[in-house]
Amino acid sequence: MNELKWWQKTNVYQVYPKSFLDTTGSGTGDIKGITAKLDYLKTLGVGAVWLTPVYPSPMVDNGYDIADFTAIDPSYGTMEDMENLIAEGKRRGIRMVMDLVYNHSSDKHPWFIDSATSRDSEHADWYIWRDAKPDGSAPTNWRSIFGGSAWTWCEARQQYYLHTFAAAQPDLNWENPAVRQALYDAANFWLDKGVGGFRIDAIVYIKKPEVFVDGEPDSDDGMVNIHSMIANTPGILDFLYEFKEQVFAGHDIFTVAEANGVEPHELDKWVGEKGAFDMLFEFSHMNLEFPNGELWSHATGYTPEIIPELKKVLSASQHATADNGWYPAFFENHDQMRCVEHYFPAEADKKLAAKAMAAVLMTLRGTPFIYQGQELGLGNTAWENIEDYNDISSHGQYELALAEGKSPAEAMTIVHRYSRDNARTPMQWTRGKNAGFSAGVPWLPVHEDYACQCVESEALAEDSVLSWYRQLSALRQSGEAAGVLQQGDYTELLADNPAIMAFRRRFGCRLVYTLVNFSGQRQTYELPELEEARLLSGSISGSQQGSLRPYEAVIYIKETGERL
Ligand code: GLC
Repeated sequence: MNELKWWQKTNVYQVYPKSFLDTTGSGTGDIKGITAKLDYLKTLGVGAVWLTPVYPSPMVDNGYDIADFTAIDPSYGTMEDMENLIAEGKRRGIRMVMDLVYNHSSDKHPWFIDSATSRDSEHADWYIWRDAKPDGSAPTNWRSIFGGSAWTWCEARQQYYLHTFAAAQPDLNWENPAVRQALYDAANFWLDKGVGGFRIDAIVYIKKPEVFVDGEPDSDDGMVNIHSMIANTPGILDFLYEFKEQVFAGHDIFTVAEANGVEPHELDKWVGEKGAFDMLFEFSHMNLEFPNGELWSHATGYTPEIIPELKKVLSASQHATADNGWYPAFFENHDQMRCVEHYFPAEADKKLAAKAMAAVLMTLRGTPFIYQGQELGLGNTAWENIEDYNDISSHGQYELALAEGKSPAEAMTIVHRYSRDNARTPMQWTRGKNAGFSAGVPWLPVHEDYACQCVESEALAEDSVLSWYRQLSALRQSGEAAGVLQQGDYTELLADNPAIMAFRRRFGCRLVYTLVNFSGQRQTYELPELEEARLLSGSISGSQQGSLRPYEAVIYIKETGERL
């Protein structure tokens, strides 16, 4: 195997800046707060920090509606703060990774403001404009991802514009070379500042079909999810190769693209030496509760049957990236519920559940992405009223659930499970006021149980989730298992066991085994090859070979004596 690149050996930590650390008392986090915690991140083996957008934004979608691609929103600080963060990070071996949100801009971006003035404006063709149907209605029946029509009427132009997400996020017209050039220039601006990579947002939507047609409705509202109409339209790769050529190629950085719906057989075109990106976030393991489409009200919720599915899709992703590209392992991000709730029954011991997911995350083949608070084992939140929620998609999905005949209480239960605010509550640093996040009034409430689940408390406890993450990170990065965990191949074990996830990593003369019990019952297993193996680490003390206690995770190592 080729020498691994720096980003294949490190852990990536995702910071949601608004909720990370507030140094001014404003109630929202800022860039100085991230700089202040770089030493903390170092203790987690972090070599790169993915920042969700910090650009000027009206914050309709918390920064994913960008009004200027090459500046910093004043609520986060200044460009100087950003430069300082990049420099302080570099000094510690931590590179900053920027989020490129290039499918759309904010409707307050000067390009869109100009585009919306008239059909002859300078930027007239920078967004996707269409005439109304003869009866005046929207050009198609596409539903935006946040709910409601994907088209909004503009009086001045007497036309509709397309938005895959909120009306405040008009889609950019990638067919226009001037648009592409402006976007590449913005990314190059950040490369010149010394960033270590990019996460590329919602990239599967940038190419639109040549002809726009109505789709078969998938709900009572007569609309169809826009995803099924525009995602991965043929021709998209031409744009992406150009993007790579004009921006990423030749730099010692990494790129990871959010690409919901790319199939494993297409992967070599998307990732690797010849592909457009280094890594792809695909969502097969995140969407298990959505076999009936992406509407929250159609989700199945947790069932134990999810675990065999989880095993299957994770193994498939490991195989798909064995030769092509590299796997970005993740179980949380700012759009998802907390993983301790996702893959475990409500009554599960949350601390053990968090440790179980950590064991999988940190021992799969690929680069682990840790989302802020995941290393503390944080759980979901459940506020009483829909008005308490900030997340724009929670509101859209709540309305849709009501329109489908659910009661307000049922709709709230759905919001409690799937709201993106679950992952956006303030980071929990100390046992003090507001968990040490802010001296002011936090923009979202802090979890009630922060006193026991915070960095201050968990750093002191040897058996905490945080200590387990640190231990696993050390295993990955130094010592006898590091070579295997970084470079070793992957083989699934106990594939037919519905409750235990087990896999073997192999490199040179060493084998490393991970076994995790996802159930609330003690499970026994037979794995003769484990007999001569030695326990490296266990989430509960006193592990026994051949059986796993509820939610227990164990990691073994074995020398084979022969180079495999
Ligand atoms: C991505 C982001 C999400 C955002 C959306 C629109 O899915 O992760 O937070 O709302 O794109 O930009």
